[in-house]
Amino acid sequence: MLEMPSLNFLTENFILSSTTFIVVLTLYWYIHVLYSRRNGPPGPLGLPVLGYLPFLGRKPFLTFDKLKDKYGPIFSLKLGGRNAVVFNSYEAFYEAFVKNADAFISRPKDMHINVLNSEQSNVVYESGVPWKEHRKLIVGTMKDIGVGSTGFESIILTEVQNFLNDIEKYNLNRPVDISPLIKRISTNVMNLALLGKCLNYDDPIFEIVDKYITHYVDNSALIPILSFFPWLRHFPGISWCLNQKELEKCLEKLNKRLNEEIEKSNQSSINAIVHAYLDKINNPTNGSESIFTNDSFLSNLRVLYITGVETTAGSMKWILKYLAAYPDVQRKIQEELDRVIGHDRHPTMADKLRTPYTEATLLELQRLVPLVSINVPHSNTSACKIGNYTIAEDSFIIGNIWAVHHDKEHWGDPDNFRPERFLDENGRIVNTGHLIPFFHGKRQCLGEGLAKMEVYLLTASLLMHFNILKPYDDKPMDLSSHYTTTLAPVELQIRLVKRAI
Ligand code: HEM
Repeated sequence: MLEMPSLNFLTENFILSSTTFIVVLTLYWYIHVLYSRRNGPPGPLGLPVLGYLPFLGRKPFLTFDKLKDKYGPIFSLKLGGRNAVVFNSYEAFYEAFVKNADAFISRPKDMHINVLNSEQSNVVYESGVPWKEHRKLIVGTMKDIGVGSTGFESIILTEVQNFLNDIEKYNLNRPVDISPLIKRISTNVMNLALLGKCLNYDDPIFEIVDKYITHYVDNSALIPILSFFPWLRHFPGISWCLNQKELEKCLEKLNKRLNEEIEKSNQSSINAIVHAYLDKINNPTNGSESIFTNDSFLSNLRVLYITGVETTAGSMKWILKYLAAYPDVQRKIQEELDRVIGHDRHPTMADKLRTPYTEATLLELQRLVPLVSINVPHSNTSACKIGNYTIAEDSFIIGNIWAVHHDKEHWGDPDNFRPERFLDENGRIVNTGHLIPFFHGKRQCLGEGLAKMEVYLLTASLLMHFNILKPYDDKPMDLSSHYTTTLAPVELQIRLVKRAI
C-alpha cells in the first residue's frame, strides 16, 4: 500500500521551495539591478520588486538629499519596476536639463497621474510634437493677451482690492484662516488668463475647481504607485480607491461650466487662452486637427487650473506664515513699501525693482520652502552621457529642487530664513543663479510671470494695509509642512491687524 506523505514532510517541502524561490528571485533582482546600472550612477539596491519605494518616506526630497551624501549628486534607484535617476545639485540640473535639454525633455510613458485628468493630451503630461504645440499656443497667447502688462495688472489689482475688503469682514481680533480667500483670488487670476475675465465669487466654478484640486491632492500618494506598478490599474477596487466616480462627476461639472463660458465668448478676437484654442480647432492647419481637439482643449484648461491655483496659493500661505513668525523682516518690508509707494496708491510691478528688500524676502521663501520640491518627472528618449555616467534610455528622471535650494556648499546656511542673502552691500538683488523654484530649461514653468505678479501685488498690498501676527502671542509660529503634490504649510492661522496709517 502506498504511504501518504506526512503533513510535516509537506510543510517542510513547501518551506524549502518557497525559500528557494525567494532566494532565486532576490538574486535575480540584484543581478538585474546591478547589470542595468553598469555604466550608470551608483545608488542603493532597495528591495526585490518594490525597489526603494518603501524607504522614500513622506518627504522623498529629504530622503534623496541624504542619499546624495552617500552616492553623490546623481544617483540611481529602482522605484517598483522603473529605473529612476535623481539629480540633486544645480550643476547636475544644468548638465541634464539645460545642456542636454532635448534628451531630457519628455515625460515618462505611463504617467498615471494623468488618470485624474481623463487621459487626455495636455501641456504638462505630453511629450514630442503635441507638447511643443500646446506649449507654443499657451505661451504665445499669454504673451499676446498681455499677461504681465499694465492692463492685466490693473485687473489683478481690482481683485486684490476685493481681497483686502473681504479680509476686513473677518473678526480681526482672532486667529483666522484666510486660505479660502487666497484660493479664490488665485482661481480668478487663472479665470482671467483662461477665459478672458474674472468671474463673480458666487460662480460655481470656484467650488468645482477647488473640489477637483482637492481630489488631486488627496490621491497624490496613490498616483505614483500606479506609475511604478502600471498593472495595478487593472485591479478591481483601484477606481474605488481613487474615488473615480466622484472625480468623473467633478470633471463633468467643470467641463459643462467651461463649455458654457466658451459658448458665450467672443471668438472674433483672441483675448484669452480659450479663444486661441477655439481658433486652432476651427481653423486647422496640416496635422493640427489631431493635436487641437475638444478633449485636449478641456484637458489643458483643467491642468492649467491645477498647476496655477495650488502653487500660487501655497506660496502666499508660506509668505504669511513666515512674516508672522519674523516680525523684524515684516517691519523692514513695510518701511520699504511706505518709503517707495506711500499710502495713496496701489503697488505696481514697476515698484518691484524699487523694493529690493521685499523682493529678496519673496526670493528667500521660494528658496527655503520650494512649493514644487521635486519636479514633475522627466524621461530621456535615448541613452545619454552626463559626466562619467551613462543614463539608460527611458529612465524616470527626478529633479530634486529642494536639494538645489538647500545645498550647503552654495548657500552656506541653507536652513536659515535670511532675505539678506539675495542683497549686495548696496541693497541690490544678487545671487539668484542657483534659485530654480520654477525649474530650468525647456520645461520651465510657463506661469512664472503670472505667479510672480500675483504674489508681489498681493504681498505688497497686504503689508501696506495690515500687520500680520502669530495666532497666539505666547506660542511660537508653527512652520511645519506636509508634502502632497506641493510642499504646503500644515495650516494657516494668523491674526491680521489693520495698520494705523
Ligand atoms: C509659485 C507658483 C508656481 C511654482 C512654484 C511653479 C513651479 C513649476 C515647476 C517647478 C515646473 C516644472 C515642472 C517640470 O519639471 O517639468 C512647473 C511647470 C509648469 N507650470 Fe508652474 N509653477 C507655479 C505657477 C504656475 C502657474 C500660475 C501656472 C499657470 C499659468 C503654471 C503652469 C505650469 C505648467 C503648465 C507647467 C508645465 C510646463 C511643461 O511641462 O512644459 N505654473 N511649474
